[in-house]
Amino acid sequence: MTRHFLKDDDITPQEQAEIIERAIAMKADRFAERPFAGPQTVAVIFDKTSTRTRVSFAVGISDLGGVPLIIDTGVSQLGKKESVADTARVLDRQVAQIVWRTYAQAGLEEMAANSKVPVINALSDEWHPCQLLADLMTIRERFGKTQGLKIAYVGDGANNMASSYLVACAMAGMSVAVASPSGYDPSEKAVSRAREVAAFQGGQITVTSDPKEAVSGANVVVTDTWISMGMEVEAEGRKRDFAGFGVTSELMASAADDAIFLHCLPAYRGFEVEAEVIDGPQSAIWDEAENRLHAQKALMAWLAEQN
Ligand code: CP
Ligand code: NVA
Repeated sequence: MTRHFLKDDDITPQEQAEIIERAIAMKADRFAERPFAGPQTVAVIFDKTSTRTRVSFAVGISDLGGVPLIIDTGVSQLGKKESVADTARVLDRQVAQIVWRTYAQAGLEEMAANSKVPVINALSDEWHPCQLLADLMTIRERFGKTQGLKIAYVGDGANNMASSYLVACAMAGMSVAVASPSGYDPSEKAVSRAREVAAFQGGQITVTSDPKEAVSGANVVVTDTWISMGMEVEAEGRKRDFAGFGVTSELMASAADDAIFLHCLPAYRGFEVEAEVIDGPQSAIWDEAENRLHAQKALMAWLAEQN
């Protein structure tokens, strides 16, 4: 059975910890592992725009001895003239792994079902699991552990990042609190999965509409754009609905004294986060962005060994 990484819990908590430790080792010795020596090619497909994901996968595949093949779907047959299944059958004869940023999770599932090589979710409408590996690595670097820490997410509870924080952080033994305005609550699927995982891993899952309650005592405070890719038509209404859900210095004062701030980026200063916070001493966003590279290299090297 080919292993894929389409959502946070496609790996076990033990495998998640193993990949994060491997990422930390790879960061310290960047060119030590060459699983794509040959060089083998890895396809990296984008249906949506990207800076970090595009760069970190391209650089990471090169670091691992391989060649990245970046495909923008606007100039390919995928999705217009050719099905996902047929695309998978063409790609898996030639590439070592398939990385895909897309809209529907169902598309990724169809790609994986028809591919003999690993498929990695580089962001879908439902999950952003590669980002969570980088975030957990950053937390592990800053605190020396993830177990027993509290993370608070303030903002759009219904988006991909909120769902991934719920499940991936629960897997890492963290407590997760999500504060969002009414109508933007986290998905029932993500909350119930996070609660199920937290019951084993020792964390608590809290869903609230009070940012201060969520942030109280948190070790890590996170947010994300209020207007995810694909939601642009709702921009004006969303800006109104999310008023009061920005991460401000005043809100950060409710967190633990040594709390850090994370944001997957791109960030919209003055909306989901104040410049003073994201550009201030508690912010770890540049380590977080760099860690996309190391975390994804560890993931790809690990997947190469499973299949
Ligand atoms: N955080 C993240 O995935 O960034 P990009 O959209 O730039 O890839
Ligand atoms: N929630 C955001 C994340 C961007 C990395 C989006 O889907 O646009």
